[in-house]
Amino acid sequence: MLNKKLEEALNAQINAEFWSAYLYLSMSADMSDKGMAGVANWFAIQFKEEQDHAMKLFNYVIARGGKVTLKPIEKVDTEWKSPLDAFEQTLQHEEKVTSLINNLYALAEQEKDYATQSMLKWFIDEQVEEEENAKAIIDTLKLIGDNGYGLYQLDKELAARVYTPIATSEE
Ligand code: FEO
Repeated sequence: MLNKKLEEALNAQINAEFWSAYLYLSMSADMSDKGMAGVANWFAIQFKEEQDHAMKLFNYVIARGGKVTLKPIEKVDTEWKSPLDAFEQTLQHEEKVTSLINNLYALAEQEKDYATQSMLKWFIDEQVEEEENAKAIIDTLKLIGDNGYGLYQLDKELAARVYTPIATSEE
């Protein structure tokens, strides 16, 4: 059984993951509007992955006999200056999520909840990947600069990203 402190903290993380999903869906909409279908695809897949992250936590709370309490999702920005601007905000946001996950892990340690620590290890690894992916695209975009053809090529590359669902429950 989850203790109340952890139940509350995991519920807050469910909300944060849905907020991330909403943020990336908004970025996807803006990139579509700016004519960058590939970048929009990348963010649309990111949106789905964030929903999976939320559902993984959602199912975990229930599996441990806790209660999921969904809270309102705060509004997100709707426009970015450029793909670089969107990916820089993505990296900044993912760094924040990493610290939220680290805090959750520290709380699980403090509460001697070993099952939660074990479940959170997946998220710790995932955050390394999340930050790495955003950094790599930022580096490429910086290299491209104002080169329209470079941006066209990157857009084509990001159009090829496909969604791979993750296991959102232990069963
Ligand atoms: Fe759910 Fe992008 O971290």
